[in-house]
Amino acid sequence: MSKALAREVDKRRTFGIISHPDAGKTTLTEKLLLYGGAIQMAGSVKSRKAARHATSDWMAMEQERGISVTSSVMKFEYKGHEVNLLDTPGHQDFSEDTYRVLTAVDSGLLVIDSAKGVEAQTLKLMDVCRLRNTPIVTFINKLDRDGLDPLDVMADIEEHLKIECAPLTWPIGMGQEFKGTWNIYKNELHLFSAVHEGKTQEGLVFNDVNDPRLEEYLGDYAAQLRDELELLEGAGNPFDKERYLNGEQTPVFFGSAINNFGVQEMLDAFVELAPVPKSRPTTTREVSPYETDFSGVVFKIQANMDKNHRDRIAFMRICSGKFTRGMKVKHHRVGKDIAIANATIFMAQDRTGVDEAYAGDIIGIHNHGTIKIGDTFTTKEELKFVGIPSFSPEHFRRVQLKDPMKRKQLQKGLEQLAEEGAVQLFRPISNSDYILGAVGILQFDVIVHRLKEEYNVNALYEPCMITTARWISSEDQKVLADFKDYYRSDLAIDAEGCLAYLAPNPWKLESAQERYPKIEFSTTREIR
Ligand code: G4P
Repeated sequence: MSKALAREVDKRRTFGIISHPDAGKTTLTEKLLLYGGAIQMAGSVKSRKAARHATSDWMAMEQERGISVTSSVMKFEYKGHEVNLLDTPGHQDFSEDTYRVLTAVDSGLLVIDSAKGVEAQTLKLMDVCRLRNTPIVTFINKLDRDGLDPLDVMADIEEHLKIECAPLTWPIGMGQEFKGTWNIYKNELHLFSAVHEGKTQEGLVFNDVNDPRLEEYLGDYAAQLRDELELLEGAGNPFDKERYLNGEQTPVFFGSAINNFGVQEMLDAFVELAPVPKSRPTTTREVSPYETDFSGVVFKIQANMDKNHRDRIAFMRICSGKFTRGMKVKHHRVGKDIAIANATIFMAQDRTGVDEAYAGDIIGIHNHGTIKIGDTFTTKEELKFVGIPSFSPEHFRRVQLKDPMKRKQLQKGLEQLAEEGAVQLFRPISNSDYILGAVGILQFDVIVHRLKEEYNVNALYEPCMITTARWISSEDQKVLADFKDYYRSDLAIDAEGCLAYLAPNPWKLESAQERYPKIEFSTTREIR
């Protein structure tokens, strides 16, 4: 291991934001990029989102795609750290990609709207984080508005997300009466003032929360703050870095993203606490980020919707070694060497060619469909990274062909799109339907559009009576055969040849699980 390489790895922080739409992810991202100097002007990320959000028209969305690819990974430097922020698309863009991005990060930032507490999408995304015990920092947002009692928000997080909360800052009042935050580990008061465009003011340092000068700044809120801090000391959890790194405890910060209040405090702690790139498992061994030989794994493929650029971008997370422009790497599944001459690294505003990159960084590789999700690239040893799963879809549609003569093209198109990870394809055992499964319903529109554009197939989709899917396996072959017989009409084979049970409703799934305790019903499946 070279010292220079270790220095580069140790500088890196690769994370994603976990939130429900409208909690403030875009606003917070923008502030983070401002601190990182990646953008100069507030409003740039926001206007991008507004353009995308304002229209549900597919063609317009398509034009926006170019931009949303660019912003899939935002890299910036902050206080000597190289920070990679991976976008976890929400809203209409919500898809399996959103989940998979979380398999490529080393930590997460959970954003909660203080008036709403834990919401549905947050729960789902946290489930994915839990698969890998991803460390999570929490930012409770919108304290400038009346919200829930901070203790209740933390109780909500603890109960629903099953993670212990350790507040590192504490809010003083809220809404119109929001006075600021008390930094628990530094004994510092940060006064809120919307007039300053919220830029966090220099913290006033007190060695002791009982300092009578607090009254000067906070009036009656000083006494309330003391009471609450005492309560926290008695009943709360002290911050424990080890527990944070194990994904058991989350340090909590309070603030207001739109007012840029509490953001820098959180960012400072984040780069300090968040883990450096981790070792990653392969089918044969763990690969350390400090190993000198290069290795990387593809976790997302984004098709370019622009007709003039029919290529796809494979997003590769570097797992070890150093990447240099033009480097030759082995594409193991295909058994070919390729030279990565045109790798792209994603900055907030535009794409720039990469000259070098290290473990934790994400590079984009242009290709015409030869790369698929889960593919491993290395310079030497043959490896296959694991831990990039398929997630059980939540929406299902049956594909109908407008022109029956195009059946072959339809099959080819669907198989390739499924291989790329754009959608999941299921072929029922008992009929010749094509069933699509997706995590977000926008994926169906994308598929129909791409079938037309790329495969010249006119297809449409219609609802079908499936509500959930589970991948099926069992050590007991006899039980498996019996299960297959019994549920034949609900079984299907997915694009990688794996057996899946497509449940018409949750009760039928439950009864199948009760009837066959020796069968494993999985919500995720490792991509081969
Ligand atoms: P998202 O990406 O998680 O979906 O959330 P986004 O940042 O777009 O924020 C959602 C809404 O919440 C926006 O208002 C945004 O201005 C507002 N917001 C974000 N942070 C704060 C905060 O700290 N305090 C308050 N009071 N509001 C906040 P909008 O009305 O939907 O959009 P806009 O008209 O402001 O653009």
